Amino acid sequence: MEKFSERVNRMSFSQTFVMSNKVREMKAAGIDVISLTLGEPDFDVPDNIKEAAFAAINNNFSHYSPVPGFLDLRQAVCEKLKRDNGIDYVPAQICVSNGAKQSIMNVLASIINDGDEVILPAPYWVSYDEMVKMMGGKSVFIETTIENDFKMTAEQLENAITPKTKALLYSSPCNPSGSFYTYSELEKMANVIAKYPQITIISDEIYEKINYEGKHVSIAEFPQVCEQTAVINGMSKAFAMTGWRIGYSACPDWLAKAVEKIQGQVTSGANTMAQKASIAALKADPATYQYMIDEFRKRRDLVYDLLQKVPHFKVNDPKAAFYFFPDISYYCGKTLNDTFIRDADDFAMFLLQNANVGTVGGTSFGNPHCIRFSYAASEQELLTAMKRIKECLDNVHIAS
Ligand SMILES: Cc1ncc(COP(=O)(O)O)c(C=O)c1O
Repeated sequence: MEKFSERVNRMSFSQTFVMSNKVREMKAAGIDVISLTLGEPDFDVPDNIKEAAFAAINNNFSHYSPVPGFLDLRQAVCEKLKRDNGIDYVPAQICVSNGAKQSIMNVLASIINDGDEVILPAPYWVSYDEMVKMMGGKSVFIETTIENDFKMTAEQLENAITPKTKALLYSSPCNPSGSFYTYSELEKMANVIAKYPQITIISDEIYEKINYEGKHVSIAEFPQVCEQTAVINGMSKAFAMTGWRIGYSACPDWLAKAVEKIQGQVTSGANTMAQKASIAALKADPATYQYMIDEFRKRRDLVYDLLQKVPHFKVNDPKAAFYFFPDISYYCGKTLNDTFIRDADDFAMFLLQNANVGTVGGTSFGNPHCIRFSYAASEQELLTAMKRIKECLDNVHIAS
């Protein structure tokens, strides 16, 4: 009898972790590798947040919390959603989880039956397709290109809808492309989805705060779809709290209860100290954290200029998050030195082995022509990494 479930056999390991493990192996072997594979801020947790965590420990917040989180945290989330997004929620609609990742799983587990379709505009965050598969659903991909900033149109969205479509899942700002949808683009998407009440929008806004261009817009702001939308957000990226594992969903009433039911049987409430610290994170003036965004913007500009000089890279201009997603299709189907490059995954491996820079191929993000790298690294590391990539590709022997 097959030992493993069909569920686990359907799934793959994340390419991001495959590449970061490879980087770790090379480093352990004494090779000087710069890793731009992982997506997390390289800042320390701000002091006001740490102090709230110490206070929570000293005040003995050491017991189980309510499944959807402490009431004062859920109230702070509602205040944040009103302050930053202009949306009215009550605490009963908020479920605090072990990271935004769990919040997305909770929503998918609440709505997806075997064979249901979930629309994923590509490129998408690696875990989305795997989560859909885990739930027995089927991802339906919408292709985009670098020329349109990796964004789908409302027409493409409508064409992808079938009677089996149960959800639309996307991140704005987007990991991996760094693009975000504007007010008018979201309004057009909302007008499409409003015609199909069976569809739930899962709007992953975890990169909301890392936006260099303007005001973040949530699709839940549009009244025609607010009863169909689950907003996903959390502490990881905005407050450099990736390891503290706090995320949340804000759902319409009908969905909030189901989300709580799932979480209650899987993990219970999230870590209590981290929940208390998250209240301090959310309640502080957003200007407290502006220094991280300013720094990311400086690095984005630096890397953008350096990338223009790398041969045959088509470079996107990311306006949010902390990733570049250049199109490297020129190199696909060619032999570089002695290595045949089939797709962006092969190219990322080639860069790792020949330039000692770790990036991630785009296949598992739904685009085999691009590579993703994070610029959440020090300026010195970024300068050296870009120099190594350029020198490697300036000197490579290319055969068709
Ligand atoms: C688009 C996107 N959503 C969600 C997450 C996960 O966030 P969390 O750390 O809160 O689980 C990530 C992390 O990389 C991400 O890139």
